Amino acid sequence: MEGTLTARDKVGVQDFVLLDAYTSESAFVDNLRKRFSKNLIYTYIGTLLVSVNPYQELGIYTLNQMELYQGVNFFELPPHIYAIADNAYRVMCSELNNHFILISGESGAGKTEASKKILQYFAVTCPMTESLQIARDRLLLSNPVLEAFGNAKTLRNDNSSRFGKYMDIQFDFKGIPVGGHIISYLIEKSRVVYQNQGERNFHIFYQLLEGGEEELLAYLGLERDPQLYKYLSQGQCVKESSINDKNDWKTVSNAFSVIDFTEEDLENLFGIIASVLHLGNIYFKEDDQGCATIPDTHEIKWIAKLLGVHPSVLLDALTHRKIEAKTEEVICPLMLDLSIYARDAMAKAVYERTFTWLVNKINSSLVNKSASSSPDFTRKTVIGLLDIYGFEVFDKNGFEQFCINYCNEKLQQLLIERTLKAEQAEYEVEGIEWEPIQYFNNKIICDLVEERHKGIISILDEECIRPGPATDLSFLEKLEEKVGKHAHFQTRKLAGPKGRQRIGWMEFRLLHYAGEVTYCTKGFLEKNNDLLYRHLKEVLCQSKNSILRECFLAAELKNRRRPPTVGTQFKNSLSSLLEILISKEPWYIRCIKPNDGKEPSKFDDLVIRHQIKYLGLMEHLRVRRAGFAYRRQYEGFLQRYKSLCPDTWPHWHGPPAEGVERLIKYIGYTPEEYKLGKTKIFIRFPRTLFATEDAFEFSKHQLVARIQATYKGCLERRAYLKKRQAAIKLQAHWRGALAQKEAKRRKWAVQIIRKFIKGFINRNKPLSPDNEDFVVFVRKNFILNLRYHIPKNVLDKSWLRPPGIPENASNLLRKMCTRNLVRKYCCGLPAERIAQMQQKVVTSDIFRGKKDGYAESLNQPFANSRLDEEDINPKVLQLISNEKIQYGVPVIKYDRKGFKARQRQLILTQKAAYVVELAKIKQKIEYSALKGVSTSNLSDGIFVIHISPGDYRQKGDAILQSEHIFEVVTKLAMLIKRENVVNVVQGSLQFYISPAKEGTIVFNTGPEEQIYKDKNGQLIVVSDYFGGG
Ligand SMILES: Nc1ncnc2c1ncn2[C@@H]1O[C@H](COP(=O)(O)OP(=O)(O)O)[C@@H](O)[C@H]1O
Ligand SMILES: [Mg+2]
Repeated sequence: MEGTLTARDKVGVQDFVLLDAYTSESAFVDNLRKRFSKNLIYTYIGTLLVSVNPYQELGIYTLNQMELYQGVNFFELPPHIYAIADNAYRVMCSELNNHFILISGESGAGKTEASKKILQYFAVTCPMTESLQIARDRLLLSNPVLEAFGNAKTLRNDNSSRFGKYMDIQFDFKGIPVGGHIISYLIEKSRVVYQNQGERNFHIFYQLLEGGEEELLAYLGLERDPQLYKYLSQGQCVKESSINDKNDWKTVSNAFSVIDFTEEDLENLFGIIASVLHLGNIYFKEDDQGCATIPDTHEIKWIAKLLGVHPSVLLDALTHRKIEAKTEEVICPLMLDLSIYARDAMAKAVYERTFTWLVNKINSSLVNKSASSSPDFTRKTVIGLLDIYGFEVFDKNGFEQFCINYCNEKLQQLLIERTLKAEQAEYEVEGIEWEPIQYFNNKIICDLVEERHKGIISILDEECIRPGPATDLSFLEKLEEKVGKHAHFQTRKLAGPKGRQRIGWMEFRLLHYAGEVTYCTKGFLEKNNDLLYRHLKEVLCQSKNSILRECFLAAELKNRRRPPTVGTQFKNSLSSLLEILISKEPWYIRCIKPNDGKEPSKFDDLVIRHQIKYLGLMEHLRVRRAGFAYRRQYEGFLQRYKSLCPDTWPHWHGPPAEGVERLIKYIGYTPEEYKLGKTKIFIRFPRTLFATEDAFEFSKHQLVARIQATYKGCLERRAYLKKRQAAIKLQAHWRGALAQKEAKRRKWAVQIIRKFIKGFINRNKPLSPDNEDFVVFVRKNFILNLRYHIPKNVLDKSWLRPPGIPENASNLLRKMCTRNLVRKYCCGLPAERIAQMQQKVVTSDIFRGKKDGYAESLNQPFANSRLDEEDINPKVLQLISNEKIQYGVPVIKYDRKGFKARQRQLILTQKAAYVVELAKIKQKIEYSALKGVSTSNLSDGIFVIHISPGDYRQKGDAILQSEHIFEVVTKLAMLIKRENVVNVVQGSLQFYISPAKEGTIVFNTGPEEQIYKDKNGQLIVVSDYFGGG
């Protein structure tokens, strides 16, 4: 409701309950008018829907609209018939109970359209399985068939239903429509034989003539022109622009094929329809005795053919009557008017029963087949649609109106039971104090009509069977006698002088709940009796037409008891209808037509007021509003308006009732505005609710923004948390993987270390698995390390200390390495240097460890010679020209006697050593005559070349001094080519001054180098303390 309130100012109120002046009929009409002028044809009174026929297509029955209303709370959208249908459906699905939708209103108000809209809504919106589509199609297509046979054009409605219809739509436990069942009520069969001016017979006759194929018509013996048929042309309105019989015929034909009708069925059915038309054209003539005859049997023959009866038997039955006396049957001819009566009775009976057959046939096709085959489908619920004639008040009202209005009284009873009483019961249940409002309980009128033995129907029945001359007038007298005192009954006689003028002599007046209706008793007896002469019945029972045979059972003939009268039948069928309805949840649709001219956009106040009155709408509204305009369960109320009070927003945690109390106190309801029931809040005035709704509307926008923000925040946070969660998971897994890797590595390391330690402990034991790896590792490691520590040259004596185990290998390697270095070194030496080295080796052999200054001399390279050729006197060169000079050096020569020092050159050739003074060779010492060479162990440069004493040519040994002592001596020794020729002496040495005389040289150390002759005539050679350095 609340959602629709927003539009209330523009187009009235969408629920009459919210009308402030709810007791005023004018306000009611105004509201309807306002809405109607805006094409808003639907308005609620609570859950009752008031619908005004727009007489134009409004485009409010689209698929979109159906979807819009699907599953939406009743009051959230503007009123619509779909809202009623949808709510009935949803309550049915959730509560698993049965419902009915009662559609009432006068002819042309839109009842049938409404029921079709509901059916369509279900067909479109209900869930559907493929196998059940056929059931849905049949439900939908049963309509055009029933309308063809049961609807007709009347003055009020071009497609007026001339029967009452109750249709059950059955749903299975999933809410899928699985089947249906139709009950028809009181078809207006008099229409078959008679129509008022401007009205037509049932559609099917015109459809058949207009649309039927040539062969079919020929087979039925019919002409296309409806004017040719009496039964069709009395209303002088065989054609109506708004009706397209040809198209309708196609629709109906198609529907027949879907609803299981066989060729034979159709042949029989149209045979019957055609024979009704033929019946109407039978022409009776009066003979001399006033009895009826049929001069032309053309029609008789056709009827006989189509119904499968003997023509003469039929003819007989139409013109004669069997009268049963005690023991015998007497056949007497019928008077002309009785023959006509018999003919019409036959036409009516045939049509009526065929219609009933048709309904049964449709029902058998609507039976939910799956239900019978599968025991699971036990949970079936139904929604019933009751499309029944509304209250009728004409200028002349007959038996039909009597029945129809009685029916409406009964339905009003139901409404009172289910709604008005229920409303008051609600207050009681809720413990709300209120003043019971007076509504008119029409039970008293129902009783007036239907009470056993006392009611009008009983009186009518009695009059019908009473022996003796019973007439409509005698019936009226009986009424005056028996119910004359009833407050709702009047006749001309009973009425005071005031009312007298308005009631005819043949009339009685009932004060219905909806108003007075005056009925003319003319025809009551006849219509109630509905007599079909036994004779005719017999003929029909013998018919070869299988439909008729089903309609007219032979058993009926045997039953001698009177069949129940039409009135009683109707009363019974009504009470069983009410039994059906009373067990179901009611939904009401009240249809109103806006004018009598079927005109769109014309709002005729008078016509409408009239309907408002007899539809009981004001009464309904009054009760709805009697106490409180609006009620709602605490939960729902709180849920909607909780945002208006800080205490209840956003959540109220206490009992909803207390929440509502807090809420309404906060928004300032005064005590007279509301009452709190047990489960509901009741609001007395619409304006209170409007104010609340306005406040809510205002706060909604703010709320929406807040909710949106919160929601967006929520979404973002959710997304963020999700991402975070994912990141954490990833991290955890990654860390796990890393840790596993690390643990593996550590484990591996521990093993390696352990092995290493074990290997270390066992390193000196023979190779075994315990130490093998360690040993190999140490070796490998040593060797690999060695790479970086290999000595770079021969002099580099460093070597990586082996860790014990590979000591042998290390030594071998070291040796190899040294050799390799030496080899490399040697290979790299020039010849000259090799020669020098060889000389040094000789020097080493001679002096190493024997003479001071040796070590220092090592790194002084030897020269090839210390004298160049120019340094040597050419004469000397001349003298020794046949010998190659190997070496020359300046020396100091000491005299053997005086030890006088003299500058000389020592020249060495292959053969001899020459001591030379300028151009003179002073001494030539051949190597062969050379005894040895001596030096001291000190750092002096003295060396003595000893001559063999036997050599006479020699003067004595040569005492020489050179600063290149090691070089000179080495060269000399090498040239001499004798081993141990050099002698290194300590202390002193002896030498020959002459072959017979020896001298001594003493070697000493002192603070200063000096060489002198001492007084003993010895040569003293003093070297400094530190040697030759
Ligand atoms: N909701 C509607 N929208 C448009 N036209 C409608 C509507 N209801 C009824 N009518 C028109 O009114 C006519 C009579 O309606 P119908 O349902 O046959 O009346 P009822 O069954 O009450 O006698 C329909 O043929 C149709 O033209
Ligand atoms: Mg109708």
